[in-house]
Amino acid sequence: APISGKGGINAPLIVVSNRLPFVLHRNKDGTLERKQSAGGLVTAVAPVVIDYKGVWIGWSGLYDMKPDEKIPESHPDDRAPTAGLLSSQIIPVNVDENEFEAYYNGCCNGTFWPLFHSMPDRAVFQADTWKAYCRVNDLFAKATLDALRRILKELDEEGKTETLPVVWIHDYQLFTAATTIRQVCDEENLRCKLGFFLHIPFPSWDIMRLFPWDDQILQGILANDFVGFHIEDYCLNFIDCCCRRLGCRVDRSGMLVELAGRTIHVKALPIGIPYERFVQLAEAAPVSIKDTESVKVILGVDRLDYTKGLVHRILAFERLLEKYPQYIEKVTLLQVSVPSRTIVREYRQLKDEMDQMIGRINGRFSKPNWSPIRYIYGTISQEQLAALYRDAAVALVTPLRDGMNLVAKEYVACQIRDPGVLILSPFAGAGGMMHEALVVNPYEINDCAEVIHRALHMPLEERELRMIQLRHREEIWDVNHWMNSFLASMGALDDEDKDPLTT
Ligand code: G6P
Repeated sequence: APISGKGGINAPLIVVSNRLPFVLHRNKDGTLERKQSAGGLVTAVAPVVIDYKGVWIGWSGLYDMKPDEKIPESHPDDRAPTAGLLSSQIIPVNVDENEFEAYYNGCCNGTFWPLFHSMPDRAVFQADTWKAYCRVNDLFAKATLDALRRILKELDEEGKTETLPVVWIHDYQLFTAATTIRQVCDEENLRCKLGFFLHIPFPSWDIMRLFPWDDQILQGILANDFVGFHIEDYCLNFIDCCCRRLGCRVDRSGMLVELAGRTIHVKALPIGIPYERFVQLAEAAPVSIKDTESVKVILGVDRLDYTKGLVHRILAFERLLEKYPQYIEKVTLLQVSVPSRTIVREYRQLKDEMDQMIGRINGRFSKPNWSPIRYIYGTISQEQLAALYRDAAVALVTPLRDGMNLVAKEYVACQIRDPGVLILSPFAGAGGMMHEALVVNPYEINDCAEVIHRALHMPLEERELRMIQLRHREEIWDVNHWMNSFLASMGALDDEDKDPLTT
């Protein structure tokens, strides 16, 4: 539903994210084509951008795009949520290949990803990739300012001189964009509200301070008026860093930070999934494995990422087979690993480690008609995914650290009959809310094996009781609720900025 009037923003929305809401593909004949991307965020946010005649700014994904080259309009048959986005509402940011490599593979994924997941030993700190990061953030800022000037001109011409456009910046790829946006807005007297949402964890001060330019990250985030994180722990870590690194006055219970006379509002807003869409997919999907074989499926679905705890998970499954040989030929671990960031060394090493480990375990336990682990290294369609979710007896969601984790939520949404059991790590944002899951520390391999054993034996009644609660929560707090809450918080900012801090 559009966000307007009470609690909404009732103003044009400028979304800024590293990726555009669809992929731009260059055909052999040189023409451009839109390719759908399936994320829940896009499904929720695109309709609001469409309704408010807003814009979406993101990396074009192409190195050969000409500055004046037009984005194609959507195909008349396009059913994607982005179909209504006009080409004029999409602003591609073009980045030189070497610069993008340093920004994205170097700084975003080589430094911030491990650091913010509290794995500093994997992080590389380099001045040149950090500089590239700042320059690329400035390109995003420049594109945002161009769009803002145009939108303000239109508003002024319509006499809407009080309307404040909302700029919504997403994630760790764009920490410093708001610094430049705010500076230029101040210089040129451009009016807007700036909001930021971080989709990954925010680490403690002890970790954050390892990054040599941490002050600039904090200042970049604080250049916004409103900042959202998934859970309260991340909010408190952020506030603590602002206090200790920048000496800001802060109000921890009111979630406020003061910088240079401005008050920045911080809030926990746990993201959800397009719940109804997954229910419908699960209802429509053809049977996958469970109904055709007498083998129970334990399912894992992840981007191939070292934060996801894949190695620990495979070892826990091996331990299960060692300890409880009765599962041989009765249970299969189906692991879907989606290739990700394959240029970064850590990801390539993990791929090799997984290949070897799975080969070893399959070699150790396989029978002529059964293998313990089925491993898919690739992408699968949403329909196939929903069928797997629906039919799996157990879902293993055991990240070592994860901002939220949507797989846990998608799995419960798809449990429309004979409910399975969700096993969840407490180190995912979702772990703090999905109380009816079986919670297990992924580092404790033995314990993990025991919990899988328990899940495989759980009586129907208990599975149903747990699943009803889990599903109910996700149904109410779906991705639309998350988006409405973010925009409502932005809408409510108006006069609060002048409030003094209490501490
Ligand atoms: C995480 C991040 C997103 C990112 C996604 C996929 O969910 O929070 O910002 O888009 O991973 O990673 P990629 O590097 O392929 O964009």
